[in-house]
Amino acid sequence: MTQLSININKFATLRNARGGNNPDILKVAKDCQRFGAQGITVHPRPDQRHIRYNDVFEIKPFIITEFNIEGYPSRSFIDMVLKVQPHQVTLVPDPPDALTSNKGWDTIKNEKFLQEIISEFKKNNIRTSVFIETDLDLFEPAVRTGTDRVELYTEEYAVEFDKKNLSVINKFFQAATLAKNLGLKINAGHDLNLRNLKYFVQQIPFISEVSIGHALVCDALYFGLENTIQMYLRELTGIKV
Ligand code: PXP
Repeated sequence: MTQLSININKFATLRNARGGNNPDILKVAKDCQRFGAQGITVHPRPDQRHIRYNDVFEIKPFIITEFNIEGYPSRSFIDMVLKVQPHQVTLVPDPPDALTSNKGWDTIKNEKFLQEIISEFKKNNIRTSVFIETDLDLFEPAVRTGTDRVELYTEEYAVEFDKKNLSVINKFFQAATLAKNLGLKINAGHDLNLRNLKYFVQQIPFISEVSIGHALVCDALYFGLENTIQMYLRELTGIKV
Protein backbone atom coordinates (compact mmCIF):
# COMPACT_ATOMS: atom_id res chain seq x y z
CA MET A 1 0.00 0.00 0.00
CA THR A 2 1.12 3.55 -0.67
CA GLN A 3 2.24 5.05 2.65
CA LEU A 4 0.72 8.23 4.01
CA SER A 5 3.22 10.76 5.34
CA ILE A 6 1.54 13.74 6.94
CA ASN A 7 3.15 17.11 6.48
CA ILE A 8 2.62 18.86 9.83
CA ASN A 9 3.87 22.32 8.79
CA LYS A 10 0.38 23.88 8.82
CA PHE A 11 -0.06 22.97 12.49
CA ALA A 12 3.08 24.94 13.21
CA THR A 13 1.76 27.87 11.16
CA LEU A 14 -1.30 27.93 13.40
CA ARG A 15 0.83 27.75 16.52
CA ASN A 16 3.12 30.51 15.31
CA ALA A 17 0.17 32.80 14.60
CA ARG A 18 -0.35 33.24 18.34
CA GLY A 19 3.07 32.54 19.82
CA GLY A 20 2.91 30.00 22.63
CA ASN A 21 2.59 26.30 22.05
CA ASN A 22 -0.95 25.63 20.88
CA PRO A 23 -1.29 23.38 18.98
CA ASP A 24 1.58 21.44 20.46
CA ILE A 25 3.56 20.17 17.48
CA LEU A 26 5.08 17.26 19.32
CA LYS A 27 1.60 16.10 20.35
CA VAL A 28 0.40 16.53 16.76
CA ALA A 29 3.25 14.37 15.47
CA LYS A 30 2.57 11.68 18.07
CA ASP A 31 -1.19 11.76 17.44
CA CYS A 32 -0.83 11.58 13.65
CA GLN A 33 1.13 8.38 14.14
CA ARG A 34 -1.31 7.06 16.75
CA PHE A 35 -4.17 7.68 14.33
CA GLY A 36 -2.48 5.71 11.56
CA ALA A 37 -0.09 7.94 9.61
CA GLN A 38 2.84 5.95 8.31
CA GLY A 39 5.17 8.91 8.27
CA ILE A 40 5.67 12.50 9.40
CA THR A 41 6.98 15.16 7.05
CA VAL A 42 8.36 18.53 8.05
CA HIS A 43 9.54 21.35 5.81
CA PRO A 44 11.53 23.87 7.84
CA ARG A 45 11.98 27.05 5.82
CA PRO A 46 14.79 29.54 6.29
CA ASP A 47 12.46 32.16 7.83
CA GLN A 48 11.10 29.50 10.25
CA ARG A 49 7.56 30.62 9.57
CA HIS A 50 6.14 27.12 9.93
CA ILE A 51 8.13 24.28 11.46
CA ARG A 52 11.33 25.54 13.08
CA TYR A 53 14.67 23.81 13.22
CA ASN A 54 14.28 23.27 16.98
CA ASP A 55 10.87 21.55 16.38
CA VAL A 56 12.59 19.10 14.09
CA PHE A 57 15.09 18.12 16.82
CA GLU A 58 12.32 17.90 19.39
CA ILE A 59 10.08 15.67 17.27
CA LYS A 60 12.73 13.24 16.07
CA PRO A 61 12.93 10.98 19.17
CA PHE A 62 9.16 10.45 19.05
CA ILE A 63 8.94 9.33 15.45
CA ILE A 64 8.07 5.65 15.42
CA THR A 65 7.08 5.66 11.74
CA GLU A 66 9.09 7.36 8.98
CA PHE A 67 10.57 10.82 9.37
CA ASN A 68 10.91 12.84 6.17
CA ILE A 69 12.52 16.28 6.15
CA GLU A 70 11.98 18.42 3.07
CA GLY A 71 13.79 21.53 2.09
CA TYR A 72 16.15 23.46 -0.10
CA PRO A 73 19.65 22.07 0.50
CA SER A 74 21.34 25.15 1.92
CA ARG A 75 24.37 24.47 4.11
CA SER A 76 22.35 25.03 7.28
CA PHE A 77 19.62 22.67 6.05
CA ILE A 78 22.14 19.95 5.18
CA ASP A 79 23.86 20.25 8.56
CA MET A 80 20.54 20.08 10.39
CA VAL A 81 19.46 16.96 8.47
CA LEU A 82 22.80 15.26 9.12
CA LYS A 83 22.38 15.92 12.84
CA VAL A 84 18.75 14.82 13.01
CA GLN A 85 19.27 11.68 10.89
CA PRO A 86 15.74 11.26 9.51
CA HIS A 87 14.83 8.22 7.42
CA GLN A 88 14.44 10.36 4.33
CA VAL A 89 15.35 13.81 3.08
CA THR A 90 13.39 15.32 0.18
CA LEU A 91 15.25 18.01 -1.71
CA VAL A 92 13.18 20.84 -3.16
CA PRO A 93 14.45 23.76 -5.25
CA ASP A 94 12.32 26.48 -3.58
CA PRO A 95 13.74 29.91 -3.18
CA PRO A 96 13.70 30.92 0.52
CA ASP A 97 10.68 33.23 0.13
CA ALA A 98 8.45 30.73 -1.72
CA LEU A 99 4.98 30.47 -0.21
CA THR A 100 5.04 26.74 -0.89
CA SER A 101 6.99 24.46 -3.22
CA ASN A 102 6.18 25.64 -6.70
CA LYS A 103 8.50 23.72 -9.00
CA GLY A 104 10.55 20.58 -9.30
CA TRP A 105 14.31 20.36 -9.83
CA ASP A 106 15.86 20.93 -13.18
CA THR A 107 17.95 17.78 -12.78
CA ILE A 108 19.78 18.48 -16.05
CA LYS A 109 21.19 21.80 -14.84
CA ASN A 110 21.60 20.70 -11.23
CA GLU A 111 22.88 17.16 -11.73
CA LYS A 112 26.33 17.80 -10.22
CA PHE A 113 24.99 20.01 -7.44
CA LEU A 114 22.49 17.35 -6.40
CA GLN A 115 25.02 14.54 -6.81
CA GLU A 116 27.37 16.12 -4.27
CA ILE A 117 24.65 16.75 -1.73
CA ILE A 118 23.06 13.35 -2.17
CA SER A 119 26.39 11.57 -1.70
CA GLU A 120 26.76 13.34 1.64
CA PHE A 121 23.35 12.08 2.76
CA LYS A 122 24.01 8.58 1.42
CA LYS A 123 27.27 8.35 3.38
CA ASN A 124 25.13 9.01 6.43
CA ASN A 125 22.55 6.38 5.48
CA ILE A 126 19.78 8.88 4.88
CA ARG A 127 17.47 7.99 2.00
CA THR A 128 17.09 10.77 -0.54
CA SER A 129 14.23 11.93 -2.71
CA VAL A 130 14.24 14.68 -5.32
CA PHE A 131 11.13 16.76 -6.06
CA ILE A 132 10.53 16.57 -9.79
CA GLU A 133 8.05 17.36 -12.56
CA THR A 134 6.92 14.97 -15.27
CA ASP A 135 9.21 15.98 -18.15
CA LEU A 136 10.72 12.63 -19.16
CA ASP A 137 14.13 14.17 -19.87
CA LEU A 138 14.59 14.85 -16.16
CA PHE A 139 14.71 11.23 -15.06
CA GLU A 140 18.02 9.89 -16.39
CA PRO A 141 19.89 12.85 -14.90
CA ALA A 142 17.93 12.22 -11.70
CA VAL A 143 19.27 8.67 -11.60
CA ARG A 144 22.81 10.00 -12.09
CA THR A 145 22.44 12.19 -9.01
CA GLY A 146 22.37 8.94 -7.03
CA THR A 147 18.98 9.63 -5.47
CA ASP A 148 16.94 6.72 -4.17
CA ARG A 149 13.59 8.24 -4.98
CA VAL A 150 11.86 11.04 -6.81
CA GLU A 151 8.80 12.86 -5.53
CA LEU A 152 6.39 13.75 -8.33
CA TYR A 153 5.09 17.30 -7.97
CA THR A 154 1.34 16.79 -8.25
CA GLU A 155 -0.07 20.32 -8.32
CA GLU A 156 -0.86 20.13 -12.05
CA TYR A 157 -2.59 16.80 -11.53
CA ALA A 158 -4.77 18.33 -8.80
CA VAL A 159 -5.68 21.39 -10.87
CA GLU A 160 -6.59 19.36 -13.97
CA PHE A 161 -8.44 16.75 -11.92
CA ASP A 162 -10.75 19.47 -10.61
CA LYS A 163 -11.44 20.51 -14.21
CA LYS A 164 -12.35 16.85 -14.88
CA ASN A 165 -9.41 16.55 -17.23
CA LEU A 166 -8.53 13.04 -16.07
CA SER A 167 -6.16 12.45 -18.97
CA VAL A 168 -3.63 14.51 -16.99
CA ILE A 169 -2.85 11.26 -15.20
CA ASN A 170 -1.13 9.97 -18.35
CA LYS A 171 1.93 12.18 -18.02
CA PHE A 172 2.26 11.24 -14.35
CA PHE A 173 1.89 7.55 -15.20
CA GLN A 174 4.52 7.80 -17.94
CA ALA A 175 6.95 9.66 -15.69
CA ALA A 176 6.40 7.25 -12.82
CA THR A 177 6.80 4.24 -15.09
CA LEU A 178 10.04 5.61 -16.50
CA ALA A 179 11.33 6.33 -12.99
CA LYS A 180 10.41 2.82 -11.90
CA ASN A 181 12.12 1.26 -14.93
CA LEU A 182 15.23 3.28 -14.13
CA GLY A 183 15.26 1.76 -10.65
CA LEU A 184 13.89 4.68 -8.67
CA LYS A 185 11.13 4.51 -6.09
CA ILE A 186 8.44 7.12 -6.42
CA ASN A 187 6.81 9.43 -3.91
CA ALA A 188 4.22 12.06 -4.76
CA GLY A 189 2.90 15.20 -3.21
CA HIS A 190 1.37 18.65 -3.40
CA ASP A 191 -2.34 19.43 -3.49
CA LEU A 192 -3.40 15.83 -3.04
CA ASN A 193 -6.73 15.62 -1.24
CA LEU A 194 -9.75 13.43 -0.53
CA ARG A 195 -11.15 14.06 -4.01
CA ASN A 196 -8.10 13.31 -6.11
CA LEU A 197 -5.99 10.88 -4.08
CA LYS A 198 -7.74 7.62 -4.85
CA TYR A 199 -7.65 8.07 -8.62
CA PHE A 200 -3.97 8.96 -8.50
CA VAL A 201 -2.92 5.85 -6.58
CA GLN A 202 -5.34 3.60 -8.45
CA GLN A 203 -3.80 4.69 -11.74
CA ILE A 204 -0.23 4.57 -10.42
CA PRO A 205 -0.36 1.82 -7.79
CA PHE A 206 3.42 1.66 -7.41
CA ILE A 207 3.71 5.01 -5.61
CA SER A 208 5.63 4.31 -2.40
CA GLU A 209 4.54 7.34 -0.40
CA VAL A 210 2.33 10.39 -0.63
CA SER A 211 3.07 13.43 1.46
CA ILE A 212 -0.03 15.47 2.29
CA GLY A 213 -0.38 18.59 4.40
CA HIS A 214 -2.66 21.46 3.48
CA ALA A 215 -5.83 19.62 2.48
CA LEU A 216 -5.56 17.14 5.32
CA VAL A 217 -5.30 19.91 7.90
CA CYS A 218 -8.29 21.71 6.30
CA ASP A 219 -10.32 18.49 6.40
CA ALA A 220 -9.33 17.95 10.04
CA LEU A 221 -11.08 21.24 10.92
CA TYR A 222 -14.36 19.66 9.86
CA PHE A 223 -13.89 15.96 10.56
CA GLY A 224 -11.31 15.93 13.35
CA LEU A 225 -7.75 14.68 12.99
CA GLU A 226 -8.36 11.01 13.76
CA ASN A 227 -11.32 10.68 11.37
CA THR A 228 -9.50 12.61 8.68
CA ILE A 229 -6.43 10.41 8.81
CA GLN A 230 -8.66 7.34 8.59
CA MET A 231 -10.44 8.87 5.58
CA TYR A 232 -7.14 9.42 3.79
CA LEU A 233 -5.94 5.92 4.66
CA ARG A 234 -9.17 4.50 3.28
CA GLU A 235 -8.41 6.15 -0.06
CA LEU A 236 -5.08 4.35 -0.09
CA THR A 237 -6.16 1.00 1.27
CA GLY A 238 -6.49 -2.01 -0.87
CA ILE A 239 -4.19 -0.65 -3.52
CA LYS A 240 -1.23 -2.98 -3.79
CA VAL A 241 2.24 -1.57 -4.47
N1 PXP B 1 5.78 17.79 -1.13
C1 PXP B 1 6.53 18.90 -1.09
C2 PXP B 1 7.90 18.85 -1.66
C3 PXP B 1 6.04 20.08 -0.51
O1 PXP B 1 6.81 21.18 -0.47
C4 PXP B 1 4.75 20.09 0.03
C5 PXP B 1 4.23 21.34 0.68
O2 PXP B 1 5.09 21.75 1.69
C6 PXP B 1 4.00 18.90 -0.02
C7 PXP B 1 4.54 17.77 -0.62
C8 PXP B 1 2.62 18.81 0.55
O3 PXP B 1 1.75 19.62 -0.19
P1 PXP B 1 0.32 19.96 0.38
O4 PXP B 1 0.50 20.79 1.61
O5 PXP B 1 -0.35 20.69 -0.74
O6 PXP B 1 -0.36 18.64 0.70
